[in-house]
Amino acid sequence: MNLKQLAAEKAVEYVKDGMRIGLGTGSTAYWAIRKIGERVREGLEIQAVATSKASEKLAQEHGIPLIPFAKLDGLDLTIDGADELDSELHLIKGGGGALLREKIVAFHSKEMIVIADESKLVDKLGSFPLPVEIIPFANEWTLASLDEISANPMLRTEEDHIFVTDNGNYIADCRFGSIDNPAELHRKLLAMPGVVDNGLFIGLAARAIIGRKDGTVTVLE
Ligand code: A5P
Repeated sequence: MNLKQLAAEKAVEYVKDGMRIGLGTGSTAYWAIRKIGERVREGLEIQAVATSKASEKLAQEHGIPLIPFAKLDGLDLTIDGADELDSELHLIKGGGGALLREKIVAFHSKEMIVIADESKLVDKLGSFPLPVEIIPFANEWTLASLDEISANPMLRTEEDHIFVTDNGNYIADCRFGSIDNPAELHRKLLAMPGVVDNGLFIGLAARAIIGRKDGTVTVLE
């Protein structure tokens, strides 16, 4: 049983005719996009935007109508994965590097549903390194500022080069250890020059759908 697929397909049940949908990024969102595509081919009428170039391509392959942002006045629902989530539905996202677009899309959605297998549920965020998107200009100084707050940043690389996001920025993967106060850390990071955004999603997700090893799904609200 594919737990990511289980959670994703349950979430797609919340998609209704006429909705404007935000399409997430990653290996769990992949299953949601596939399922939405299947329902579109069966007659579901929606408009969608994607949170990454990869999801845009996938949506196109599955025949999902993608609409320019300027033509949409907000979204009804965004379905996206997470790298970690706690019981308050605070999230760490950005393992795939799409955190900035994901956050913009989630922010402009009436509702965000997180989809995940049960391994992503944690008591406290922080085992997964927190992705922080930074501007390439003077990135050495931004990395030093992150180091000063004990972030232990590591510039993300891909093969033999620095990883570049869809927005042309870099990612610093930060290891804070267990994060006691995600909201405070979020504010601290946003106040740092050179930081564009970070993978903490605070108060954005209204519901999480978790695929369990026993084949059931749990809905957390
Ligand atoms: C993409 O940048 C991420 O935020 C993903 O949504 C997150 O990493 C979850 O990915 P998986 O579903 O592949 O675990």
